[in-house]
Amino acid sequence: MAAAAAARRGCLVALLAVLFLACAADGGCGGGVGGAAAAAATAAEASAAAAAAGAQPPQAAQQGAPRQHRVALSPDGDIIDCVHISNQPAFDHPFLKNHTIQMRPDYHPEGLYDESKVASQQNTQTITQMWHKNGVCPENTIPIRRTKKEDVLRASSIRRYGKKKHKSTPNPMSVDPDMLNESGHQHAIAYVEGDKYYGAKATINVWQPRIEQANEFSLSQLWILGGSFGQDLNSIEAGWQVSPDLYGDNNTRLFTYWTSDAYQATGCYNLLCSGFIQINNQIAMGASISPLSNYGGSQYDINILVWKDPKEGNWWLQFGNDYVLGYWPSFLFSYLADSASMIEWGGEVVNSEPDGSHTSTQMGSGHFPEEGFGKSSYFKNIQVVDSSNNLRAPSGIGSFTEQSNCYDVQNGNNGDWGTYFYYGGPGKNPNCP
Ligand SMILES: *[C@@H]1O[C@H](CO)[C@@H](O)[C@H](O)[C@H]1NC(C)=O
Ligand SMILES: *[C@@H]1O[C@H](CO)[C@@H](O)[C@H](O)[C@H]1NC(C)=O
Ligand SMILES: *[C@@H]1O[C@H](CO)[C@@H](O)[C@H](O)[C@H]1NC(C)=O
Repeated sequence: MAAAAAARRGCLVALLAVLFLACAADGGCGGGVGGAAAAAATAAEASAAAAAAGAQPPQAAQQGAPRQHRVALSPDGDIIDCVHISNQPAFDHPFLKNHTIQMRPDYHPEGLYDESKVASQQNTQTITQMWHKNGVCPENTIPIRRTKKEDVLRASSIRRYGKKKHKSTPNPMSVDPDMLNESGHQHAIAYVEGDKYYGAKATINVWQPRIEQANEFSLSQLWILGGSFGQDLNSIEAGWQVSPDLYGDNNTRLFTYWTSDAYQATGCYNLLCSGFIQINNQIAMGASISPLSNYGGSQYDINILVWKDPKEGNWWLQFGNDYVLGYWPSFLFSYLADSASMIEWGGEVVNSEPDGSHTSTQMGSGHFPEEGFGKSSYFKNIQVVDSSNNLRAPSGIGSFTEQSNCYDVQNGNNGDWGTYFYYGGPGKNPNCP
């Protein structure tokens, strides 16, 4: 395991070769647990991985690699490795060498809504991940979306792969308006601040926004924030995103992000660095989700809950009503080791201003909030976790957008949806040239 950790630190590309050879050499890949379907997937994945990995130095195989029980080749081209839970990237972190994995949270927050009632009102078809069509990961493993060589080559450097390029958390209180536009990131969000928060929840409508330039992205998420918007900003983020640069396609994917120094040295997307400890064997971070909402048609949404376990202090992540994915240990953070000072919910896009005009990259459904249900994208049942570990409606909610003619947000409140907002837009249009 130490050797595997060293290999991982050494070079991501080399690791790809190691992973492939580990499958071929120790026979642990797709053997053991797999039936005929898994074996077929393994054969297909082996040639895919061979093509991706290119030449492999023979000694790489000897260094040892995470033992993989099974591999699933997803219809969208992803390769999902089932990695033993104790071999996950988190344990490369020096502070996690002797860590005992917490297999479940000590406490869940007390709910505001009756979840079974809320669930029964929704579409019967629940959102799942595409790779489930071709496999499952056994107990005591976690599914990890494999990083391919071409994924890394799209990044400016191996060191930057999986990290955000710019400071990108919207600061609604910024006194310097130029700062907001500086990195080309645009937002349409709702937020609360001024209290101590121990988590947040939302039901997020899922879409596939069109991305104009491969180096742009569009996402919908919640932010758990601690500290000022200076160099030491702490942030935990989760939601869905379309990011051609990160994943090589336009699929809508479940993602997380964390940083404890305003996106500088610490943190990354998903499991691309050590930090988040995953315990769930059913959901892969960064994997595609479906079905997606249609304009004027069926609407689908996901529940995201992040909360701080009052006993151990870890920040837990839950997807849907059933999947507790894992946790960020409290020691990763400074401010968030205690509590969050601000929560944000909403959309973000990168506007790289191709040809000097605003990007036509869409946020949410690509339609403005005025169009309402079925056409505009929404967040509903927005809640925060208070110091007594209770979910409650946020008080004093504000909204923010840099250019409402490009992307906008409209808050609302009613019985079924609690606190909600519609958000998004098309980007470039006659009022947003
Ligand atoms: C882990 O445990 C070993 C043996 O008890 C100890 O020497 C080492 O300092 C510990 N490491 C950390 C990071 O706690
Ligand atoms: C951002 O830039 C646009 C275009 O230059 C401008 O219209 C808008 O007012 C700016 N927004 C803020 C909040 O400064
Ligand atoms: C993603 O979408 C854009 C815009 O629709 C398209 O130009 C591009 O080819 C797509 N990329 C991939 C990898 O499918």
